[in-house]
Amino acid sequence: MASLNDIRSTFLDYFHRNGHEIVPSSPLVPRNDPTLMFANSGMVQFKNLFTGVETRDYKRATTAQKCVRAGGKHNDLDNVGYTARHHTFFEMLGNFSFGDYFKNEAIPFAWELITKDFGIAKDRLYTTVYHTDDEAFEIWKKVGVPEDRIIRIATSDNFWQMGPTGPCGPCTEIFYDHGDHIWGGPPGSPEEDGDRFIEIWNIVFMQNEQFEDGSMRALDMQSIDTGMGLERIGALLQGSHDNYDTDLFKALIEASAHATSVDPYGDKNVHHRVIADHLRSTSFLIADGVMPSNEGRGYVLRRIMRRAMRHAHLLGSQEPLMHRLVPALVTQMGAAYPELGRAQALIEETLKLEETRFIQTLDRGLKLLDDELAKLPEGGDLPGAAAFKLYDTYGFPLDLTQDALREQGRAVDVAGFDAAMAEQKAKARAAWAGTGESKDAAIWFDLADGIEPTDFLGYDTELAEGQVLALVVDGKAVDKIDAGQTGWMVVNQTPFYAESGGQVGDSGSYLKPHGNGVIGDTQKMPGGLFAHQVTPEKAVLSVGDALELRVDHARRTAIRANHSATHLLHEALREALGDHVAQRGSLNAADRLRFDFSHSKALTAAELESVERQVNEFIRQNSAVETRIMTPDDARAIGAQALFGEKYGDEVRVVSMGRAATGKGSDGQTWSIELCGGTHVKQTGDIGVFVTLGDSASSSGVRRIEALTGAAAFEYLCQQDRRLGDIAGALKAQAAEVPERVRALMDERKALQNEVAQLRRELAMAGGAGQGCGAEAKEVAGVPFVAQVLSGVSGKDLPSLIDEHKAKLGTGAVLLIADAGGKAAVAAGVTADLTDRVSAVDLVKAAVVELGGKGGGGRPDMAQGGGRDAANAEAAIKAAEAVLEG
Ligand code: ALA
Repeated sequence: MASLNDIRSTFLDYFHRNGHEIVPSSPLVPRNDPTLMFANSGMVQFKNLFTGVETRDYKRATTAQKCVRAGGKHNDLDNVGYTARHHTFFEMLGNFSFGDYFKNEAIPFAWELITKDFGIAKDRLYTTVYHTDDEAFEIWKKVGVPEDRIIRIATSDNFWQMGPTGPCGPCTEIFYDHGDHIWGGPPGSPEEDGDRFIEIWNIVFMQNEQFEDGSMRALDMQSIDTGMGLERIGALLQGSHDNYDTDLFKALIEASAHATSVDPYGDKNVHHRVIADHLRSTSFLIADGVMPSNEGRGYVLRRIMRRAMRHAHLLGSQEPLMHRLVPALVTQMGAAYPELGRAQALIEETLKLEETRFIQTLDRGLKLLDDELAKLPEGGDLPGAAAFKLYDTYGFPLDLTQDALREQGRAVDVAGFDAAMAEQKAKARAAWAGTGESKDAAIWFDLADGIEPTDFLGYDTELAEGQVLALVVDGKAVDKIDAGQTGWMVVNQTPFYAESGGQVGDSGSYLKPHGNGVIGDTQKMPGGLFAHQVTPEKAVLSVGDALELRVDHARRTAIRANHSATHLLHEALREALGDHVAQRGSLNAADRLRFDFSHSKALTAAELESVERQVNEFIRQNSAVETRIMTPDDARAIGAQALFGEKYGDEVRVVSMGRAATGKGSDGQTWSIELCGGTHVKQTGDIGVFVTLGDSASSSGVRRIEALTGAAAFEYLCQQDRRLGDIAGALKAQAAEVPERVRALMDERKALQNEVAQLRRELAMAGGAGQGCGAEAKEVAGVPFVAQVLSGVSGKDLPSLIDEHKAKLGTGAVLLIADAGGKAAVAAGVTADLTDRVSAVDLVKAAVVELGGKGGGGRPDMAQGGGRDAANAEAAIKAAEAVLEG
């Protein structure tokens, strides 16, 4: 019996033989389609090839595409487990022609594969065509399908659209008749919803494109898009009409039975089925980068996980179960999807964490549910307030509660649930308004009421499509922003990082047909909305536009390097200075990084150098940077650095880097572990090089280090080098000799300065430097008096000159005024024998007044002062003479 793996290979090989390129499945998270939550069919990754926007070097392709239908428009979650064919995850087999072959080949290809390679009996098969499609009708007739088995269908069942917009066209389908032991009728009959006639293959004749305004255009080329669910064709070929009755699902159901010791096929079968299905979707979503969270895709993942956990609970499982089933899944599907094996550890860890946390509240929530149900009349609906409490306090997604009530034939008062939710939002809003944030915040609250939080894709990509959900100009919501005008834009998903945790917001551009625009900044707003500051360049930007959003790669690369270097720096500082070092603030911009930390004194040159050296060692180590999601407690348990006083949610992102002989983490060898929501390099080597610009005081007890990395660091080092070269050139020395040369020059300069001062003093004594007055003594009121104005002599030289004059005079008084560029220093001296008659202090005070100064003082034999007007020196001398004259 062919296994599902065999059937997948047979399909791909068949089309490969027929000239098709085997293209790998695209990830579950579509990068090229903002309107889709998850890839939901094979053609998603080829959307732009059908419309002609993109071309590749092949015109025929075949794929096995991973699909999830558990959120948004196609949501099968509620039915999974209870029916034969609903899944949250499934594989779609498909063949595609991009303007190559059309109906004439597509129909015979399908017919040959089904009836020959798969050997399905022709008399079990029926086909449908769009009611006006005579061409397809004729081709079916030609391959041998009897006319009475080609059914014309007028409804949208035979017109396929990927969504509200995009490529579409009429289709033809192949049905299998499971036989009259099962109830149901052929397509188009009143009993068509029964299980007897099952659609197995859909072939879409892609020839139109649907636009948002309802209009449709004919595509330039005619293409083919087909889809066949692997699980359905597998069941059929394995002789069943139940998808869960296939080798792959049986293996998963048996793994679940084995782990829980509950009969796989007894009355608890439905729980095993739910677990088997949900194991596939959760594991594949995690492998494709989705993490459980409270918004967007992450919330869909969380809902599926929690639903699975409740069913595990119903199997009596008290311990986390799902993570133990991952190896069975990898055994089944790891060969076809290698990403599953690569992510196995992450999948197991994520499932286990989510289960561990949820088990704690699951019991209490279920107890509350029982209590509430006991109060209700038979079959009565659960009040919305109770369902909301389960959601808000116990983490029960609404659909989990609905699923739990389903077995009792009860429902939830959904309107009441919505009202309780709205009330809680209103309270949050009132609380925010109370914080006095900018008045513009009001508009963001209004927007957040109607818009889902922005899905951030920027950890994995710098390029993604997003759809404009709202525009704001001057604090008001608008429908459009004109070219040249600047405003703020909210999109459903974005690769742009919004400023937080010290990391600046991304900038870049958006592209759309006929008019690109600039994105200057990205900021976080209430309700998890990311606001992009936009300036359309040519054409108006409108709500509803689909944009290609491009982060400025060079800038983001530099920011990333700076942010990762900050983590390495933080740890290096703790190592060099001690564990008291804690982060007090940081900035991770494109041009530099800044890190503030608690430490009370300046770093020595040696400390700074050892920190710089250590950071660079870890850069050269080039080890991988890891990110994981965990509870704050687990993060602390492995030694993660967290910001003091920061409030963390019930799960945190943990960034680890660097390998060390002794370190932190579960292996005790991780150098740096920090709670962080920022974007980081992949390998530490991506930082390039790290240089500090020195350390300074930021505030009391807080030091600040600024530093550069990568290209900026290199430029800085080059510049320093050039400067040193210039200095060496000027000194006519080698760079290495510069310090010695500079020291020698400094010594020489000092010696010359001393010599000059000495010469000046000698000159002054000789009377040669005097201005206006000679150095000869004259008699004033019988006292020998020397008065002199000196230039080129500093104030502090005056006392020693006074002493020299006094010694030369033997008895007398001296007044010296030094003219220092217009300012005056004055000193007076009186020999000891005369201090009874006249005080040097009085002489100086009188002179100072004339020199435009104040005060002056000292001892009777020696006093000093100063003033602003050296030009009045002569008047000052006259004033001193007047004092001598009494
Ligand atoms: N895209 C088509 C489908 O999903 C084939 O059914």
